[in-house]
Order: sequence, then structure tokens, then C-alpha cells
Amino acid sequence: MEIFNSVSALRLYLESQRRDNKSIGFVPTMGALHAGHGSLITASRAGNDLTVCSIFVNPTQFNNPDDLAHYPRTLAADCAMLQAAGCDAVFAPSAQEMYPEPAVVKFDFGALERVMEGQFRPGHFNGVGVVVSKLFNIVQPDRAYFGQKDLQQTAVVRQMMVDLGFQIELHICPTLREADGLAMSSRNVNILAQHRPAASTIFRILNQAKTSLLAGESSKTAQVHAAEAFASQPDFKLAYFEIVNLHTLQPVAACQPEGQTAICAAAFLGKVRLIDNVVF
Ligand code: PAJ
Repeated sequence: MEIFNSVSALRLYLESQRRDNKSIGFVPTMGALHAGHGSLITASRAGNDLTVCSIFVNPTQFNNPDDLAHYPRTLAADCAMLQAAGCDAVFAPSAQEMYPEPAVVKFDFGALERVMEGQFRPGHFNGVGVVVSKLFNIVQPDRAYFGQKDLQQTAVVRQMMVDLGFQIELHICPTLREADGLAMSSRNVNILAQHRPAASTIFRILNQAKTSLLAGESSKTAQVHAAEAFASQPDFKLAYFEIVNLHTLQPVAACQPEGQTAICAAAFLGKVRLIDNVVF
């Protein structure tokens, strides 16, 4: 497995691979890799000759300096994991390499980012848009792999690809979970041991709401029940629990046609902010 820190060295390597007609799959990450990231590498390997993974804790998408400071950084273990997973190349640039000048151009994703993560983390999706478009231009992959775990991110990236004319196939892969249902996340290592048993609550409440909505309950009632269920868990503080149309991400009054409803939640468990969703 090749490891690159510089844009120019990665470009040279990828140019020679492209000359050999190799198709390129790309998995952008912020490191602290877990099996969820591993599933994206597996998907990319299955669909491409060559898989490139980027590891970059992107400062422009953190609206909270504390979150950035405590974001886990485990580059050596990540590279070992990627090597074992059959990844071909890792791109792990410094902040200086990615941002030789502070980015001035701003992304505004309109209604897509006025809700949920965008509403609670101002500037977050601008940072995602800046870094993902930059990475796409550097790697120029044929296919890119993202997780459904960050549902709003997939919608924003899709919009950015349409608006900027990226000729890349977007693949959205299912959320990998721990045995008790907790969505795998790099932030899970920060969950205190005494809070860990309660962490599966998010997925359980999402599924309860899904069942109620499918039985004809209104979104409003489902939201009230979910808020009560979170309130009964003293270590949890709910940020939002939204029932939305999968494509527009705008709130809906009730269940949508099959496959088009998403329930998205964010909650603090102690100091750790967790997000999760179900789509049906
Ligand atoms: P990061 O949080 O490291 O996630 C990298 C990719 O892994 C994202 O597409 C995310 O949705 C996916 N992922 C995370 N947990 C997953 C799980 N449990 N199952 C399946 N996929 C999962 O998302 C980012 O980094 C950044 O915003 C990035 C796109 C790299 C831009 O900086």
C-alpha cells in the first residue's frame, strides 16, 4: 500500500495508474477508522481496480473547536487497517497541504442545510463541500463511497456533484452497527464506559418511531413520543429528532411513499454527540 502526504506525489501516482486504464474508487475519511469505514473500502474494492482512501481531519467542517481538539487521531493504526483491508493508496495530507491558503469560496446548500446538522452546526456543510470538492479534484475517481450514517452529508455531496458537474458515480453504503445497534462512529471511543450501555437507545427509539409511522401515526406524535423516551434516559440530551423526505430533507407530516422517509436524530450522550438515522 502506498502512502502519500503530498498532492503532487499522489497526482503523479494516479496519472500512471489511469494510463494503465485502472478504474479508481475513492473513500474520503477523517481517520480513526472502524469497520464502518472498512465496509466502504470493501465496496470500492469490489467495484474498481484501485482504491484510494483519504485521511484528513478537516478543520473547516468543525464548528466546535473542542470537538476538533478531541477528534481521535490514529494514523498508524488506520494505515495498518487499510493495508489489511486491501486498500491500494492512502492520502494523508497536512492542513497546510490541503489549505495552502485559507479557502475563500463558500458553499451554500440552501434548504438542504437549513435543517438538522446544518442548523445545529453552522458552517459544517460549507467545510464538507470545500474539502470533498478539493479531494475529488485531486483524486479524480470514477466512483466515490459514502456512508448512509451521515445522511445529510450524502445529500449535500450529491447536490454539489450535480451543481459542479463532477463525473463521479456516488455510492451510498449502509450503516454498520455494533451488536446492540449503536452506529459505528469514530467518536464512539469518547463515550464513557458508564454511558456505553445506554448508547443503543438512539437506534431503538428510531426504530420505535419507524414502526409507529408505518402504522399511520403522525410525525408530530412520533416526535413527542421520541422526546419522552429520550427524556427518560438521564445521560442523553436530544438535539433533534426529525422525520423528513429522504430527498429534500424537509420535515414531512407523516410517512412518505416506500423508501422515501428518513428519521434522523442527534443527541449528546454525556459530552459525545451522536447521530443516526433510519430510512424506509
Ligand atoms: P468520517 O466521519 O471519517 O466518515 C467517512 C465516511 O465513512 C463517511 O462517508 C461516513 O458516512 C462513513 N461512515 C461513518 N460511520 C459509518 C458506519 N457506521 N457505517 C458505514 N459508513 C460509515 O464523513 C466524514 O468523515 C467527513 O465529513 C468527510 C466526508 C471525510 C469530509 O471531511
